[in-house]
Amino acid sequence: MNILIKHIADYVGQRVTIKGWLYNSRSSGKIAFLELRDGTGFVQAIASQADLGDDVFSRVTSLTQESSIIVSGNVAAHPKKEGVFELQILSIEVVQLAQEYPITPKEHGPDFLLNNRHLWLRSKRQWAVQRIRDVVIDAIYEYYHQNDFIKIDTPIITPNACEDSTELFAINYFDEGEAFLSQSGQLYLEAAIMSVGRAFDFGPTFRAEKSKTRRHLTEFWMMDAEAAYVEHEESLQIQENMIVHIVQRCLEKCRQEFQILERNTEPLENIRAPFIRLTYTEAIKRLQSLGSDIQFGEDLGNDDEGLLTENEQVPVFIHKWPKAIKPFYMKIDPENPELVLNNDLIGIEGAGEIIGGSQREDDYETLKARIEEMGFKGEEYEWYLDLRKYGSVPHSGFGLGLERVVRWISGVEHIRETIPFPRLINRLKP
Ligand code: 4AD
Ligand code: MG
Repeated sequence: MNILIKHIADYVGQRVTIKGWLYNSRSSGKIAFLELRDGTGFVQAIASQADLGDDVFSRVTSLTQESSIIVSGNVAAHPKKEGVFELQILSIEVVQLAQEYPITPKEHGPDFLLNNRHLWLRSKRQWAVQRIRDVVIDAIYEYYHQNDFIKIDTPIITPNACEDSTELFAINYFDEGEAFLSQSGQLYLEAAIMSVGRAFDFGPTFRAEKSKTRRHLTEFWMMDAEAAYVEHEESLQIQENMIVHIVQRCLEKCRQEFQILERNTEPLENIRAPFIRLTYTEAIKRLQSLGSDIQFGEDLGNDDEGLLTENEQVPVFIHKWPKAIKPFYMKIDPENPELVLNNDLIGIEGAGEIIGGSQREDDYETLKARIEEMGFKGEEYEWYLDLRKYGSVPHSGFGLGLERVVRWISGVEHIRETIPFPRLINRLKP
């Protein structure tokens, strides 16, 4: 019977067939140990010369790393390790004998690995990170559907900026002139929720940002969420509940992946709502008292985020920032016209900003003035302003950076490992 390695525990004592690749092998005399992978997991397969005969056995021991093979054999529980299973090989078919594989178990530099990303993806750690990424995505969909949000797909080719207009990738768009790759689907989601109430999108977003850090990509996946009649405080609750849900699902489903990554899961086990809330003003005071030279009105740097979260067990919301350093769409704080009702969510363990969100300006005149203040062309935002003319309601939303969350949960150092094919300012290939 053809099976996937993932289900091998159900087949103890039976003969099965596994279709996969040779990950690793070693032999000692008349026995060879092959580590097989099939995409769903890894299993040790044992070949014995006595069972297979000289010819087949010598073919097995000359198999190269990453050769594609179909192996049949009997499943047995590991004599000593609980939950581990082995395959006693009865026959083997070589689909393709791989050429000398460039990625070996020895250490390689990051450039070499990135140049070979199409192959590097097969290594155990990379496999584990991509599995975690999938669980995070699934958990996000699950959370939203359980909470009455529906998925709305927003466009990637857009006529105007959502965030900072200096970070746009421009493309030529036929006779329409210049168009831009989306920085966030937010503005379109705001239109959609006036129809469906609560919505989320999930797709690639682009920032022509010259940041060369372990947390920046030029192409990354963002989940934006938006909800009508939800104000600032309720938006924070939705954000923290979603993060708790994602972490719980990863803890349930990714045991093996965490083991491969040697990720200590204790900090994840401690994540529960409510998260810490600091106003921007409080955060600046705290940072100054901790020795930072940050001034009111400045954006938080990497070190500042580290200082604010270093002794915390849960992520930290920093909310109500100066409007001068935030985008035009954020709602002015009714208690202080210099501030906006927004938040960043800063993760623990050096995760940095994992979510950015706000209540949205719902007053036509205020929003129009803000757009003009920013130097944006009013006519390009006319459709967006329309939303404030026809049944405007208080509403809020936020965007979660998928790779930032996967980086934190999986514990990998650099964001480039969290996306299958990273786009960085100095890397476009493969
Ligand atoms: O804070 P940002 O820029 O917010 C927005 O774009 C809003 N329009 C979202 C909304 O309210 N619907 O981006 C949201 C998140 C950040 O918190 C961060 O996690 C991630 O996107 N992010 C990046 N991730 C990787 N590389 C980059 N260059 C990123 N820039 C932002
Ligand atoms: Mg932000």
